[in-house]
Amino acid sequence: MLDIKQVVAKSINEQLPQLDFEQIYENLEYPPSVDMGDVALPCFKLSRLLRKSPAQIAQELAAGISTSEFIEKVEAVSGYLNFFINRPVFMEKVIDRIMAEQEKYGSLDIGKSRNIVIDYSAPNIAKPFHVGHLRSTAIGNSLRKIFEFMGYNCIGINYLGDWGTQFGKLIVAYNLWGSKEAVEDKGIKELMRLYVKFHQEAEKDPGLEDEARSWFARLERGDRQALELWQWFKNISIEEFKKVYDLMDVHFDYYTGESFYNDKIEPIIEELRQKGLLKESEGALIVDLEKYDMPPCLILKKDGSSLYATRDIAAAIHRKKEYNFDKCIYVTGASQSLHFRQWFKVIELMGYEWADDLIHVPFGIVSLSGEKLATRTGKVVLLEDILNEAIKKTLEIIESKNPGLENKEEVARYMGVGAVIFNDLYSNRIKDVSFSWDEILNFDGETGPYVQYTYARACSVIRKAAEAGSSENSFNSRLLQTKEEYLLCKALYEFPEKVEMALEQLEPSIITRYLVDLAQEFNRFYHEHSILVDDMELRKARLSLVKATKITLANGLRLIGLRPLEKV
Ligand code: ARG
Repeated sequence: MLDIKQVVAKSINEQLPQLDFEQIYENLEYPPSVDMGDVALPCFKLSRLLRKSPAQIAQELAAGISTSEFIEKVEAVSGYLNFFINRPVFMEKVIDRIMAEQEKYGSLDIGKSRNIVIDYSAPNIAKPFHVGHLRSTAIGNSLRKIFEFMGYNCIGINYLGDWGTQFGKLIVAYNLWGSKEAVEDKGIKELMRLYVKFHQEAEKDPGLEDEARSWFARLERGDRQALELWQWFKNISIEEFKKVYDLMDVHFDYYTGESFYNDKIEPIIEELRQKGLLKESEGALIVDLEKYDMPPCLILKKDGSSLYATRDIAAAIHRKKEYNFDKCIYVTGASQSLHFRQWFKVIELMGYEWADDLIHVPFGIVSLSGEKLATRTGKVVLLEDILNEAIKKTLEIIESKNPGLENKEEVARYMGVGAVIFNDLYSNRIKDVSFSWDEILNFDGETGPYVQYTYARACSVIRKAAEAGSSENSFNSRLLQTKEEYLLCKALYEFPEKVEMALEQLEPSIITRYLVDLAQEFNRFYHEHSILVDDMELRKARLSLVKATKITLANGLRLIGLRPLEKV
């Protein structure tokens, strides 16, 4: 595998054997413009160590390093040592590698026989699937694809919010104001209406709260009537969630929600007690975390019922036993950061050394023109509606741009939903994202449709070439002499590095942004140069770049959970 930084670092290391290779490698940079060189070593940090000025170090190194098959020229410019690589050799190696590795280009086999549990999406039963869950779903799904690409074995868990006092409330509301027909007919929207109504009525009549608690207690005791209603609400909810997952092309290995851990809580309480971690506080049981500058972690309420944290603790211990994970990753909004820090600490205090392998991956809020989308008041924008709207709008765009397209509906579906996902994954995950239809569907912006459109353009060039009879893969890289061709190749070369970074930082946006950069480089090349030229040798060379771009764009799109579309 070709690694230009490695070749360069080695040649520097030969001149400076007192430094270690890794140290040199880590310090190498890509200059902002290729006119300044392809790889550079800033010599400022070395100044103290070598007791010379950066300029002097750069000059001495430049004089000492000889050119090679791969390094064409070395220059010292104001404290930087700039390397110019042999472009034809570089381009040939990059393109050959992509052609050889195809859909594996960018992947590594570092995760062999390691299990990664990813806990993502996790909407709440009888509540709508809102755009916050969309982010968790999009980020979690992408992380899963990235880990799998790197050879890990992933276990995707949908930890549904299907337990807690709200089910007592829902049962009360259903018995008082609901009907079987309405729930069957309107699904979650009706359950939501009942839930909101419960809160309105309970303000006037606090007795309702007691009734709700007693229904939840019945549920916890396994009362048949309570369980049946709960199971019914759950089935209705999952059915609706699955519509969203189908649209998004997302799958889970398990739907083990909070309720699944209900019977696994008692032994945990016992264990906490034995390890001397439990403390009584106003009738409730807590783990005191004052020493760690955190509020106490609530384990059992006064009435003996468990809490969100209790169930998470039980779930983590169960998952460790069941899947022996290398890492267990939780993808939720940043507002839950304290919750995770608290119970991760409890796991640590219990003496489990794998507490360090529990990782919270937080993200920012999604807002629709500045307004928070998830509210408790019932004014919620449903994800399914957003996705359907995106599909509809995309279809309108296709109708006006390319009315003759085959499979319009299918294309609109993947492109529309993909646009929403792409928008969600475009910014650093911790940043809040805003949602604007014009922005996410703009074919010329930094969007999913733009990348899809570029991909389809590459596919179309390849199809045309094949029709004209040129489909072989050998090429002469010396014919690729323009700056656009080189820059495109350089962008292609960076893909594996980006995937590794995305994995290390658990940050899909690195790939999303890369895709936009790569698409831009490709379009610059495409607009500047004809590909299907008469000179067959030049045609083959340029076509090889197009093919390599097609492969790389497709690999990247798949990693963020989008399906590459050959025709749009
Ligand atoms: N159901 C929760 C919510 O909607 C998210 C659950 C995240 N996973 C976990 N293990 N706590 O906010």
